[in-house]
Amino acid sequence: MDGTMNNLAATITPRATALRKTSGIPIAMLTAYDYPSARLLEEAGIDWILVGDSLGMVVLGYPDTTSVTLADMVHHTSAVARGLSHTPLIADLPIGTYNTEETALNSARELLKAGAHAVKLEGGVSHCAQIAALSAAGIPVMGHIGMLPQSVREEGGYKIKGKTPEQGDALVADALAVEAAGAFSMVVELVQPETARRIQMAVNIPTIGIGAGQYCDGQVLVTHDLVGSFPWFRPKFVTPAASLGEGLRTAAQQWATSLKETKANREH
Ligand code: KIV
Repeated sequence: MDGTMNNLAATITPRATALRKTSGIPIAMLTAYDYPSARLLEEAGIDWILVGDSLGMVVLGYPDTTSVTLADMVHHTSAVARGLSHTPLIADLPIGTYNTEETALNSARELLKAGAHAVKLEGGVSHCAQIAALSAAGIPVMGHIGMLPQSVREEGGYKIKGKTPEQGDALVADALAVEAAGAFSMVVELVQPETARRIQMAVNIPTIGIGAGQYCDGQVLVTHDLVGSFPWFRPKFVTPAASLGEGLRTAAQQWATSLKETKANREH
């Protein structure tokens, strides 16, 4: 990694990203897990790139994110980093790698060594100590509140959060705690849109929504959902803008058919 990439981490501060929020220009964040997609997303002008632990589902074939390891994240983060020259790269801390402040620091340092400029972790009030420890060590942290995919098994599925005023109050408390602990931004996942609006208004740092309606300072999507390259599952809130999975299947079928026809013709 060159000096430009290292210096990027210093620009991802709560103060700098708060200015992004007040500009009113939405932040576009997409996931990448490998070199070519990272490079293409940077060429497309995507603001922030996330090596999400959604890696577990859309690349590694697990049913959810709970099997993803730190070694998986390091491997894919370094591939993504090789594809970027100037786009901030945020990497997820996978499940079980940030239970204490010390493990959070050690795990985050591995991701930074692999080329990440910032890390993301799931949890609000419950994880402020880890966010504060990382921030105090100069490691930019993105929070993640609302539906927490690493808790999907305990939760029994991907359910909308913040439907009642009490749940909304708890989410606003999470958001304020994440901000106070030093995060530069936070993902707000599967939150009822009016509650996402309350959260957006309550904090000074940008909220990045996914399945949380339009009242966020930015949006994030799993790129495979956007481009249709994981056609066996599509979240309800995504309208794919391409059908890359179908394109791959068709290209492969046509190539194999023409190969077999050519061989059959040669034999006659
Ligand atoms: O793992 C991931 O890709 C994420 C986004 C969906 C926010 O956390």
